[in-house]
Parts: sequence; structure tokens; C-alpha cells
Amino acid sequence: MAKKTKNTSGRGERDLKIKVKSARGRKLSSTLWLQRQLNDPYVRRAQDDGYRGRAAYKILELNEKFNFLTAGARVVDLGCAPGGWCQVAVPRVNSLGTKSGKVGKIVGVDLQVMESISGCDLYQLDFMDEGADDKVKEWLGGKADVVMSDMAASSSGHKQTDHLKIMALCEAAAYFAFDVLEDGGTFIAKTLAGGAEGDLQKLLKQKFTKVANVKPPASRANSSEKFVVATGFRG
Ligand SMILES: C[S@@+](CC[C@H](N)C(=O)[O-])C[C@H]1O[C@@H](n2cnc3c(N)ncnc32)[C@H](O)[C@@H]1O
Repeated sequence: MAKKTKNTSGRGERDLKIKVKSARGRKLSSTLWLQRQLNDPYVRRAQDDGYRGRAAYKILELNEKFNFLTAGARVVDLGCAPGGWCQVAVPRVNSLGTKSGKVGKIVGVDLQVMESISGCDLYQLDFMDEGADDKVKEWLGGKADVVMSDMAASSSGHKQTDHLKIMALCEAAAYFAFDVLEDGGTFIAKTLAGGAEGDLQKLLKQKFTKVANVKPPASRANSSEKFVVATGFRG
């Protein structure tokens, strides 16, 4: 099914490109997805590092740049399944066994049921449901230092529709952040290029000291995905 093609770069085994033969009954899109997974160094790294998905590296890289996952931080992770971002957050917000001994809190929600992760409170919830924000507030039991959203509706195949859907999720996450963030807090959300980002920027600039648009190296170059990182919440 999968065949390695000749390595011409001379840089070793890791450069071998795996080509996947199409199989009867499998759609071309599935074959291409499989081929991309097998050739993606972040997929391999995630397996080696014990992360549930390559998305973990996006939040790791954003955190390296903006340092929001600090000891004792209270974090809300919207669209958290299968759990890579939560896995990254746990050891950073909890500094058990160190001098500071600070313990944070992580509340994750997703449409999908998830396997538990020690150190996180995970809930199955459609964040767009009426009253969903109140439920998350209740589970949080107070203010948050970080609201991060990797929420993405399943692709419709129509670029503009997907863009508008994700921007609606971002906006809902932003209004939720305005309600729960502590002064100085951070908001992160995944966006897709397509025209409506300007409105979100305007909205965030009224409430945060700095608003940056970032494409972390782990975000696939051929995807129009980006992350908005808003720091210094002014409640
Ligand atoms: C790219 S995945 C998130 C990956 C996650 N950050 C990780 O590291 O494992 C996007 C997630 O958003 C969730 N999602 C999409 N719409 C949602 C909604 N309305 N409410 C809650 N979760 C939603 C999807 O179920 C999906 O699991």
C-alpha cells in the first residue's frame, strides 16, 4: 500500500518520501490525506513525544513566543479534542514539586467525547449552544488567565463557507473571553484567511493591548490557517 520512493537529498532515511497507492474503495482525498500524514515530520514527532496530535506543536510554538502557559494559570481550551493542547498546558501550568508549587486549572470542551487527561477537566459540549458559555463559566468557577480556541467546524469544501464558520466560532470565543479573562489575560484563536478577520481584529484591539497574527511553523504552509494572539486584556 505505502511505498518509499528514492531518497535523492542525501540527508538520510527521514527524507524518504512515502507514496501511497490508491486502493479500491478509497477516495483520492483519503489517499492524499494518508500520504500527507505519513510524510509529515510533526505527525511522527507527536507519536514519539506522546502527544495526541500534531496540533500540540502549534500551541507549543505560540507559547514559546508569547509565554502565556505559566505556573498557576487558569486556562480554557475550546475545541480541545483529541487533547494535544491540553497535554502541552498541563506540565506548564502545574509546577508541583518545584519551589513555586503553583497549580493551575485547565477546562477543556469539545463536541466530541474525549479520553481523560490527568490535570484537565474535560467536557463534551457544543460551544455554540444556547447557554454553553454559562456552563463553561460554572466549570471554571472564576476568572481565567488564558482562553484558547482551536475550534474548527468540519470542512464543507467551500472556502468562503468554511471561513465564515470558523470566524463565527472565533467571535463566540472572543465574547466568552471578554467575560471571563482576568486583567492582563491572553486570548488565542485559530482563524482562516478569507476577509472577515478584519472585524475580529477591530473587536480585539478595543479590549487588548496587543493583537498579533501568527502562523506557527507547525501550521501547514499550504493551509490558510493562522492564529490571532491577543495579549494584555483590559477588562
Ligand atoms: C483542530 S481540532 C482541535 C485540536 C486540539 N487543539 C488538539 O490539540 O487536540 C478542532 C476541534 O474543534 C471542535 N469543535 C468544532 N466546533 C465546535 C463547537 N461548536 N463546540 C465545541 N467544539 C467544537 C471539533 O470537534 C474538533 O475536535
